[in-house]
Amino acid sequence: MALERTLSIIKPDATRRNVTGGINAVIEKSGLRIVAQKRIQLTENQAKAFYAVHAERPFYNDLVQFMVSGPVVVQVLEADNAVLKYRDVMGATNPANADAGTIRAEFAESIEANSVHGSDSLENAAIEIAFFFSGCEITG
Ligand code: CMP
Repeated sequence: MALERTLSIIKPDATRRNVTGGINAVIEKSGLRIVAQKRIQLTENQAKAFYAVHAERPFYNDLVQFMVSGPVVVQVLEADNAVLKYRDVMGATNPANADAGTIRAEFAESIEANSVHGSDSLENAAIEIAFFFSGCEITG
């Protein structure tokens, strides 16, 4: 298995409820290492650009408004097989379908306010990490 990095975002519903530490505990317990992390307020243009792949979806405008509704914590997570591993740790996009013990089952409020984002492929992970972090901000 290859050592990989994936991009995680702890979303505004989670920062609002002060549960970023609880989410980080689940991440670290799973074996993923947080090798970069910062708390930021996204601008509307940044949120639009980050989710540009969803621009044609009916939920796009609401998603962008939600993502700028409060601070987020952006993170780089590292482990063997990190992309798929983090998707397992997050659980299904809709928390109603998320397995017990996953972040979304434990913390998410709805399909929109679903507490975390994780890259869906290694290729997108590289793009998403570069969107938020420069090389010298990441240290294993
Ligand atoms: P995320 O992994 O951040 O990627 C896109 C986000 O759109 C997704 O998580 C959800 O929070 C959000 N979203 C809102 N409505 C929907 C929907 N109907 N289907 C899929 N994603 C949705």
